[in-house]
Amino acid sequence: MSTYSDRARAILPGGVNSPVRAWNGVGGEPVPIASAHGSRITDADGREMIDLVASWGPAMLGHAHPEVVAAVQAAATRGLSFGATTEAEVELAELIRERYAPAERVRLVSTGTEATMTAIRLARAATGRDVIVKFAGCYHGHSDALLVAAGSGLATAGVPDSAGVTRGAAADTLVLPYGDEPALTDAFAEHGARIAAVITEAAPCNMGVVRPPEGFNRLISTLCRNEGAVMILDEVLTGFRAGPAGWWGVERDHDLAAGVDPWTPDLVTFGKVIGGGLPVAALGGRRDLMERLAPLGPVYQAGTLSGNPVAVAAGLATMRLLTPEVHDRVAATADALVTGVSGALAERGIAHAVGRAGTLFSIFLGLDDAPVTFEEVSRQDTAAFARMFHAVRREGVALPPSAYEAWFVSAAHTAADVDHVIATVAAWADSERT
Ligand SMILES: Cc1ncc(COP(=O)(O)O)c(C=O)c1O
Repeated sequence: MSTYSDRARAILPGGVNSPVRAWNGVGGEPVPIASAHGSRITDADGREMIDLVASWGPAMLGHAHPEVVAAVQAAATRGLSFGATTEAEVELAELIRERYAPAERVRLVSTGTEATMTAIRLARAATGRDVIVKFAGCYHGHSDALLVAAGSGLATAGVPDSAGVTRGAAADTLVLPYGDEPALTDAFAEHGARIAAVITEAAPCNMGVVRPPEGFNRLISTLCRNEGAVMILDEVLTGFRAGPAGWWGVERDHDLAAGVDPWTPDLVTFGKVIGGGLPVAALGGRRDLMERLAPLGPVYQAGTLSGNPVAVAAGLATMRLLTPEVHDRVAATADALVTGVSGALAERGIAHAVGRAGTLFSIFLGLDDAPVTFEEVSRQDTAAFARMFHAVRREGVALPPSAYEAWFVSAAHTAADVDHVIATVAAWADSERT
């Protein structure tokens, strides 16, 4: 493999095309992947593993579902790209709206980054304001305004987290601790007239999975409405994965069951699952906001490959296959896995907390309580996670190579897969005690 690594590093910065693939969070040398089918992924050395990365979310049905692959093949034979609207694009957008009512109008793009970047442009155009509020630990892609992470204190003017982000871009982004209602209320009291939008992950999954504190999303929605700002709900990761209508749907169902009117986001972003493994993402939301997009309105956004027919075929086939029964199966698998893994760790005295939002979860080693803020998440034992990562990988389980990620299950994971993952985690926990 050293040949591969040397070759990769000699041409790709860090040997990768996206940083987390370099395993900086766990150490060691990633072996390239050769193929993936169902719940399994196989590396270039021929080692097959149970995959809990799922391409970082898209593979909700498991890898290379035969019906999705067939739809892609059929679409490819009709042409790879037209640069014009197709019926399938319309159908995918309609399907998104059918399942996710706040997406009154939909624009398809290719990446989650584009979707959130466009949402921000739209919010600024609609409000005539500049400031964006985001929460520390929430990731929304790599556009300049959103690459500003944690600042300490109540509401700090952002500092660039990435080199190359201008101070100007960072200064227009206010970073608050996640879940901190007083911080949010204070930010509106102090800066309300300048705030164009609050952007939040529907349930944070990019600092490990954090369950939104009860009422937090509703507070964002209320403050935005009262203060004339736009609420942007980022469901790129959670959309059609945390539940059939994303995390918003989980809260909506909870509210309806309690006899409470559900809150709604103004704009919402999707990605990952809606492309079924090919590059499709989307921005959706209130009609009056969405119709500010060109060609109807003055907010420019475009893409040569937006709504690409082959990618849309994968997304459409995936979305059609995502029936309520499939969602139930994924939920049952997530339940079994998280209960089994947590139980195995607890029995062996390994301190840990479970972060859970719908079918999404992660295990925080070294914490006693499920964290809410990035600061709390950062107290986890990342060295222990790295040891667990490598130990289970040797036994055929591919965990995400970072303690700050969700463990992704799919409809293809079997009870035997779940048992094997639990057994490997238990074996690692045993080894920690000796
Ligand atoms: C919540 C969230 N928003 C946005 C993005 C960016 O999406 P993409 O990587 O497709 O640009 C991600 C990617 O992981 C994400 O998890």
